[in-house]
Amino acid sequence: MNEEAITSAYELLRASVMTYRGEPVGTVAAVAEGGAEAENYHDCFVRDFMPSALVFLADGETDIVRNFLRTVLRLRSQHQRIHGHQIEPAVLPASFRVSRDEAGKERIRADFGDHAIGRVAPVDAMMWWVILLNIYCRATDDKGLAIEPEVQRALRGILELTLREGFEVFPTLLVPDGAFMIDRRMGVYGHPLEIQALFYGMLVSAIELLRDTAESHDLLVLAEKRANMLRNYVQIFYWLDLERLNEIHRYRTEEFGTGSVNMLNIYPESIPEWVVDWLPARAGYLVGNLGPGRMDFRFFALGNLLAIILGITSQRQAQGILHLYQDRWEDLVGCMPAKLIYPAAVGEEWIFMTGSDPKNVPWSYHNGGNWPVLIWALVTAAIKTGRQDLARLALDVADHGLSRANWPEYYDGRAGNLIGRRAHLRQVWTAAGYILGHKLVEDEGLLDIFGAVDQREQGV
Ligand code: GLC
Repeated sequence: MNEEAITSAYELLRASVMTYRGEPVGTVAAVAEGGAEAENYHDCFVRDFMPSALVFLADGETDIVRNFLRTVLRLRSQHQRIHGHQIEPAVLPASFRVSRDEAGKERIRADFGDHAIGRVAPVDAMMWWVILLNIYCRATDDKGLAIEPEVQRALRGILELTLREGFEVFPTLLVPDGAFMIDRRMGVYGHPLEIQALFYGMLVSAIELLRDTAESHDLLVLAEKRANMLRNYVQIFYWLDLERLNEIHRYRTEEFGTGSVNMLNIYPESIPEWVVDWLPARAGYLVGNLGPGRMDFRFFALGNLLAIILGITSQRQAQGILHLYQDRWEDLVGCMPAKLIYPAAVGEEWIFMTGSDPKNVPWSYHNGGNWPVLIWALVTAAIKTGRQDLARLALDVADHGLSRANWPEYYDGRAGNLIGRRAHLRQVWTAAGYILGHKLVEDEGLLDIFGAVDQREQGV
């Protein structure tokens, strides 16, 4: 372990704490250095706070996590009508910020995607909030928070919204582009894996947290059914290994009615060339997205790692994903854990997929950049799968240079050896993810912190 790096990471984490009415309520995305930070990096993002929260809980600093959970909930009252319609009241904000006027008067303002670049809806925020609430309750024995009427109401609201009947025939959740960590147009609309893993984690957590009353009974039954269907569906249809690739390669298409094998009508012609050479015989992964006639074969790291952590994969699949990391280490980790998606979209595909986004050029940012925040997820998934060797290896890689580079948000290049061209420095989830990764290898007992969302792990 690199003691100096840990000290520096903690300094950054402490400096990032945001207060409201004298209480700590969250951490800002990046701590300004007088540079040209994007305006919204002074916000506390719900997803960014997750690794910070886990570090605070592991250190017994529970107040900030409780205050954060409460603050996010209260901010729902700031929902606004946009052009004659309203965002669902159950939707939680992507981020919030505290500002102070000259007289020192504080104001807290939430962003429900109505201010975000590209105006994206943060569907993941409500999932993270429920998952964190459950982890908080388990880690602190503070059962009081979960049973507060406002919290129970919010849990019901989130379940009602996500379990509502829509236009869908699948158990997965349909979301717009950029509804999660990849909050830009990157061809991630539809049924992206990360949202499905979070949806599952949220359902399982909500089932634990919601009291069985006349008001919630039917919802609980529905949530239980949906969680089971979702897990089976993801394990069967998102899974890709060589055996399955062979099946898809020889798929019959245009099958009508019941009893079809190629239910989603995936054309074998859509299998990209890279995947055939790239997929090792002993490995596998969950594909990035799935819909009618559409299988997005790209490897999405956070979706796969969360699927292991939140228990939606089978044991065998978790092993397969870690084998993929081992056999394709250069591609998926390289010089900095870990690659966000593999491979990058290039040429015309980049033009059509991103709308010519200069921040998402090939092997940069969301389009194949390396994001050190993923360290915590990689380490957690590896330890959970019994691959401590890979967890340590990932930390070794991160130990070299991350703090010296001043905690960049992301790295560029196929190997992730260049500090991201437009990366913020002093990025807080980078530092928190690094601390958490080290904490987890030193004390595997901390994995129990995820116990809440981890119990019903079963395989097909
Ligand atoms: C970028 C990331 C997003 C993150 C935000 C703040 O927009 O894509 O996931 O929450 O920065 O760090």
